[in-house]
Amino acid sequence: MTPFHILLPCAGSGQRAGTAQPKQFETVAGQPMVMHTLHALAQVPGLVSGWVIVSPADSFDWPVASWPDRFRRLACGGSCRAESVFNGLSGMLACGVDAHDWVLVHDAARCLVQAQEVSALVQACSQDAVGGLLAWPLTDTLKTQWPGTGQARVDSTLPRESKWLAQTPQMFRLGALHDALSQVADDGFAGITDEASAMERLGLRPLLVPGSAQNFKVTYPVDLVMADAILRSRK
Ligand code: CTP
Ligand code: MG
Repeated sequence: MTPFHILLPCAGSGQRAGTAQPKQFETVAGQPMVMHTLHALAQVPGLVSGWVIVSPADSFDWPVASWPDRFRRLACGGSCRAESVFNGLSGMLACGVDAHDWVLVHDAARCLVQAQEVSALVQACSQDAVGGLLAWPLTDTLKTQWPGTGQARVDSTLPRESKWLAQTPQMFRLGALHDALSQVADDGFAGITDEASAMERLGLRPLLVPGSAQNFKVTYPVDLVMADAILRSRK
């Protein structure tokens, strides 16, 4: 059982979901979405500490009774996801977490994550020099869009072989990930949409660990409906 920490970026505003409050606080299957995420992660063997990164302006009425042990909130969210993660990692280091420890970064908005797939990631990466991420092989045919004006038209078809959808958690050494993100901080984290992409910039090759098609990120209104149905079906 490899020990690890969890960092949960939870400071987004959820523009695409179009909800009145940030999507991670919307009620899904009876409780705020982020609480489903926390309760799934809290069950994973080896968890040492969890860090929920919220906005400095966070005003959510957080549940007290169902708050999981070992988790705490840090109000150091940034203006993009990568900045929230970078600030959170800096906060963990400032609180004395060892730079050599493993950290799993997981989107608050991936509320369908299950403990067994997180355990599979930890098992797959714990002996690896780099680390890795849960991912899912692309099933649909992939098109690029022609850059012309007017209605969207196909430019080309890309082979779907060897293409994966990146999910979370993404598991790296705390200090290594902090260093990788610090190198792109001056560019405003341009093009860094996940942790692995920051590691790839250093020439590293994170492990792709098969996750589950259910571990999608709630992004659009329809995703809230699907997440609600799947969570209810599991009860
Ligand atoms: N996130 C964050 N800080 C930000 C932006 C995003 O912590 N400045 C978090 C979100 O809360 C979410 C995760 O990163 O849990 C994935 O981001 P995404 O799905 O893009 O969420 P939002 O940025 O909130 O949504 P949108 O892009 O539609 O505005
Ligand atoms: Mg976003």
